[in-house]
Amino acid sequence: MRRPTGRAAREPGGAVVTGAGRGLGRRIAGLLVARGHRVLLTDRDGDSARAAAEELGGAATALAVDVRDQGQVEAARDAALDLAGRLDVWVNNAGVLVTGPAWEQDEATRRLMIEVNACGTINGTVAAIDAMRGNGGGHVVNVVSLAGLTAVAGEAVYAASKHAALGFSLSTMADLRVAGVRDIRISCVCPDGIWTPMLHDKLRDPRSALSFSGRLLTPEEVADAVRRVLDRPRPVTSIPRWRGALSRLADAAPTAGLAAIPLMAARGRRVQRKILAGGGPRAGK
Ligand SMILES: NC(=O)c1ccc[n+]([C@@H]2O[C@H](COP(=O)([O-])OP(=O)(O)OC[C@H]3O[C@@H](n4cnc5c(N)ncnc54)[C@H](O)[C@@H]3O)[C@@H](O)[C@H]2O)c1
Repeated sequence: MRRPTGRAAREPGGAVVTGAGRGLGRRIAGLLVARGHRVLLTDRDGDSARAAAEELGGAATALAVDVRDQGQVEAARDAALDLAGRLDVWVNNAGVLVTGPAWEQDEATRRLMIEVNACGTINGTVAAIDAMRGNGGGHVVNVVSLAGLTAVAGEAVYAASKHAALGFSLSTMADLRVAGVRDIRISCVCPDGIWTPMLHDKLRDPRSALSFSGRLLTPEEVADAVRRVLDRPRPVTSIPRWRGALSRLADAAPTAGLAAIPLMAARGRRVQRKILAGGGPRAGK
């Protein structure tokens, strides 16, 4: 790994966003450019990353990176260091959701979600720590989900992958503290359903009803929560906070929590139908 030196300490350094070709990642990349970072937008779909970077202008660059491949993730780390000399922020945002009970999914589908959502987050976090440690520190932001906090019918493997991402992030934060590393932070953001391409094609899918059971968030709202976390790192931020509290309550009392799930799913299906009937993504508010 190349470690360029000699940069002014307070100048914003580089930032990497995974899965930045569309949806939330694209929005977060825009936020980081606006904050003065040189941003490397990465995505498995290199064309979408390049289009997003072009839209964001000169401070943004693109690289095709599949987060499942550690070598590609390390190449992103080195490219970001070459761009800016130092890495301030790394956002592990890339994610995939395939709905349905685990027993209806083949092994490749289950493996895909675990490898992208959990292993991809691990690869990115390790690469970021490698670049930040002894080089000015930095901040890793991991995009998890409320599905990382509690049970989600119709999204069991996705929830497993997000629980893994959260457990890994908090445990790695603990490892950093035990190792005496104080200048690297890891913050997890756990949003409710967001109106992005991930959900656009799921309006007719009753198995994804729980993603629609709250008020659908906009990517802008979630990017704004990421902005607050960048200003004030926090181990876990639920968006909205009350749904996070409800998820944790359901997890603390799983019998009651599981009993409430059919009611939540019924509400989610009502919201899906309202959006389909022309109510727009805010139909659940
Ligand atoms: N949309 C929601 O309701 C919701 C809710 C909570 C959390 N999240 C999380 O937010 C993050 C962003 O999701 P989104 O809603 O913008 O989804 P999206 O599907 O619109 O975007 C995901 C991006 O990740 C990229 N990607 C997928 N697999 C990849 C891989 N192997 N390597 C690199 N890039 C890959 C895709 O090409 C895409 O650009 C994800 O981690 C998702 O799990 C989404």
